[in-house]
Amino acid sequence: METLKRTKIKDLLAAQPGAEVLAKGWVRTKRGNKQVKFIALNDGSTINNIQIVANAELFDEELFKRITTGASLAVRGKLVESMGSGQAVEIQATDIQVLGECDPMRFPLQKKDTTLEYLRSVAHMRLRTNTFGAVLRIRNQMAYAIHTFFNQKGFVYLHTPLITESDAEGAGDMFQVTTLDLKNIPLDKKGNVDFSKDFFGKKTSLTVSGQLEGELGATAVGEIYTFGPTFRAENSNTPRHLAEFWMIEPEMAFYDINDNMELAEEFVKFLVQWALDHCLDDLQFLNDKYDEGLIERMRSVLGIAFQRVTYTEAVEILEKAIADGVKFEYPVHWGTDFQSEHERYLVEKHFGKPVILIDFPKDIKAFYMKQNEDGRTVRGMDVLFPKIGEIIGGSEREASLEKLEQRIEELGMSRKNLEWYIDTRRYGSVPHSGFGLGFERLLLFVTGMSNIRDVIPFPRTPKNAEF
Ligand code: 4AD
Ligand code: MG
Repeated sequence: METLKRTKIKDLLAAQPGAEVLAKGWVRTKRGNKQVKFIALNDGSTINNIQIVANAELFDEELFKRITTGASLAVRGKLVESMGSGQAVEIQATDIQVLGECDPMRFPLQKKDTTLEYLRSVAHMRLRTNTFGAVLRIRNQMAYAIHTFFNQKGFVYLHTPLITESDAEGAGDMFQVTTLDLKNIPLDKKGNVDFSKDFFGKKTSLTVSGQLEGELGATAVGEIYTFGPTFRAENSNTPRHLAEFWMIEPEMAFYDINDNMELAEEFVKFLVQWALDHCLDDLQFLNDKYDEGLIERMRSVLGIAFQRVTYTEAVEILEKAIADGVKFEYPVHWGTDFQSEHERYLVEKHFGKPVILIDFPKDIKAFYMKQNEDGRTVRGMDVLFPKIGEIIGGSEREASLEKLEQRIEELGMSRKNLEWYIDTRRYGSVPHSGFGLGFERLLLFVTGMSNIRDVIPFPRTPKNAEF
């Protein structure tokens, strides 16, 4: 059997009938009667299965007993036009080998309609389902599209460190990285942990953002992007937060906030269009199974300009909504950070399209954002999407050394670990901007999944690091 080369099922399904072929994959279902068996085989190359037709005369009953859902097979046969509906071609099997049996009594995926919640508890096996096959293929296409987009624009992919001694954002708690013996922690004279004895000789953590290093890259080669794992130890058990997620952070010299907004809008539209162009089979499957509005919603963000609105205007809209009887769980007044319910009201109810919020109160945003003339707002921008809320956060950066230092002082931040960052403003400072797209937030939008744990293969959330 091995003299013939294996063809992927995706390619078999698109091929002309007639050839002798070899397919390998996992059994989805088996049905039939005494004379003939039909086996639906899937190898993950596409959401679609190829039908194997096995004539009982050619194979003994013992073999069929071993062909159960989940078992892996190698099938040789002729690719023929299919008589049945649902597929153009099928394989008329001449040789079937069971590569690996799958005990139907113990296989975790045997029930037909397993809930997403159950599947999370068998994350090591859920990748074998149609749903996660579709999610993984879309995830892969989106990663490829991201690199394609930035490459076409001449951006440099910058690798920023995962282990860091600085807290870029003040965004949520950080996971500490240490090799100290936790049963015997060295203390200094004051009784504090003596980090000079630790691996790096300093207190270190996993990064919450590659932005600060990204700014070093952008002010050297002009335009960079990062794309890597990001860690936040915030204890928020929501359908939109992970403790380990992937973020894409472009950073551009000579861009002001308007250039930044334009790039962000072009970027997400490119990605949504890419998904529609390259993943339609998988999207159709997810659309039919989980979210009837998925493809429609994706198309709806492409043709229109995103609504740009200042934070102050948004507060007025929300206050008016409250006065008109709309109920929110959390209060809104000038100076509060919006919750996802407020973001979704603006996007879904008020404007009916994606929104770019700008000019936030400086006290709810990070120290590096460019300060506006009014003395109380900064040039931040959040891109808000239907069903999700914030998908992108970014800003024009404060380029003035004096203002940046002032803000660091005002916030009582330690400069000790920031001098290298401040150097960008000391030596050849330029206006610059950037933003961060949460990869899994994007995937929520382009898969229609409603829980972020279902768009990453192995989610990390509070009290959960299995698999
Ligand atoms: O708004 P954030 O915190 O911005 C930054 O980290 C900036 N340094 C980005 C920049 O300007 N270069 O995070 C950016 C995005 C959010 O809009 C959200 O999509 C995603 O990252 N995000 C998360 N995704 C999943 N789980 C979490 N816990 C997330 N926290 C942020
Ligand atoms: Mg944010």
